[in-house]
Amino acid sequence: MGTAAGSGKRTRRRGVLATMTSDPFQHGVASGDPLPDRVIIWTRLTTDAPSARLHWVVARDPELRHVVAVGEATARAQHDHTVHVDVTGLEPGTEYHYCFLAGAASSPVGSTRTLPGHDAERLRFAMCSCAKFNAGHFNAYARIAERDDLDFVLHLGDYIYEASQTPPASQTPSPDIGRPFEPRTECRTLAEYRTRYAQYRRDPDVQALHRRLPLIATLDDHELADGAWAGGATEHRDAEHGPWAARRDAALRARWEWLPARRPDPSDPTRVFRSVQAGALAELLLLDVRSRRDEPVAGPAMADPARSMLGAEQRAWREPRRVRTHAGWRIVVSPSIMSPTWVPDPDEPLRTALLKLKLVHPEGIAPDEDQWDGYPAERASLLDRFAAHDDVVVLSGDIHVSVAGELRHRGDVVAVELTTPSLTSQNLDEKLGVAQRDPAIDAAEEALADGLGLEWCELASHGYVVVDVDPARVRGEWWHVAGVLERTADEQCAAAYEVPRGVAAFRVPAGVR
Ligand SMILES: [Fe+2]
Repeated sequence: MGTAAGSGKRTRRRGVLATMTSDPFQHGVASGDPLPDRVIIWTRLTTDAPSARLHWVVARDPELRHVVAVGEATARAQHDHTVHVDVTGLEPGTEYHYCFLAGAASSPVGSTRTLPGHDAERLRFAMCSCAKFNAGHFNAYARIAERDDLDFVLHLGDYIYEASQTPPASQTPSPDIGRPFEPRTECRTLAEYRTRYAQYRRDPDVQALHRRLPLIATLDDHELADGAWAGGATEHRDAEHGPWAARRDAALRARWEWLPARRPDPSDPTRVFRSVQAGALAELLLLDVRSRRDEPVAGPAMADPARSMLGAEQRAWREPRRVRTHAGWRIVVSPSIMSPTWVPDPDEPLRTALLKLKLVHPEGIAPDEDQWDGYPAERASLLDRFAAHDDVVVLSGDIHVSVAGELRHRGDVVAVELTTPSLTSQNLDEKLGVAQRDPAIDAAEEALADGLGLEWCELASHGYVVVDVDPARVRGEWWHVAGVLERTADEQCAAAYEVPRGVAAFRVPAGVR
């Protein structure tokens, strides 16, 4: 490997080394936000120095012999010693390997992949959400990292949980598996959010995921705070915790530091929503349905047509595309489920399932104000737009269970929706305190599928969804791990559904469930 360090630099680096721990790369490496010609590579240096220089190398092979780019970067205390390099001049749809060097220390070698270019014929990625550190081991991350057939991992948010180890009554307490949160209190300050990210990034399965694949991520509420909206959050009280804007800015600052991400608007750290184009094959529209939304409200006010889940700027961002000719799949990445989950006056076991999964108002008397059900006017205007296109697929998460559904609007199916289960956050068996395949779970699955008109649902497993896109169809495969209370290697494909081009309805591939 070639790095251009002269003897003078070597002397300075020895000085920095004196303040480093024995492993300055203990948070691993990561990559993210690939484009056809570039990708972000990331690391963090563990050091007490105000700043430290390091080198990076990108090559075509894992041994780093066929080097395509090298450079220097600086880890600064003001960025929590995190380092982002936007490596440019790369080939589309190509695997690369990279590492960082600081003094005599070298990081693990990571692999990454650029997005395919304008002639993209296929895109295959894993989607996931809801990684609650103290609820389980990230076996699903490890399984994703073992695959050799993916372009990237798409994270729908709750990449961290800001929660306290002793949660409020509205949150499910975690099992005693020796993984308490750091800090043990709820994150509110920059130092606390940084500590939480650092804890996640020392986890071996999180490190394996990032070492293997580039990340494309949006956010859900727990990157900020439970039930976040533009002006606050469920458990946030300005008088006690300080101004919401300061807390939000601290949370987002730690997120930008610790994720291998490129800011869509460098002048606006609150902007996460953006579009990712995979040639003419597909466009991914990554939505932020938390940080800019109006406050969730129950009752008739919910239907106010002025209320927004997206906020004015994000809403306007989509408007010009209404008239644009669209050649490929339109993949809408919405952390919150878009299908209605409200059932008036349900019988058991549907009533308990809806309440436990937080799919209706906590008293069961109204729709859930926290998901798209709580913003019906804006959802209707989006579905109007979907109805004008044949090729809309919605990807969602947040509700911790696996769902395949069809989105209906004015009597027609206008899109399909694939919902990923949680990585570790509690789903129905854990919330009910029963065994994973208790008869109560089977009954709840049947009742929920019937009551909501779903194609399929599974309410008691953790895992991820592989989304496979080609010009003729989009296929979703729900992969479930055996459990999360221990680090285990078993997984199985629980279901697979395909939506053919121009149909907006599911086809179930033969042989799977
Ligand atoms: Fe979650």
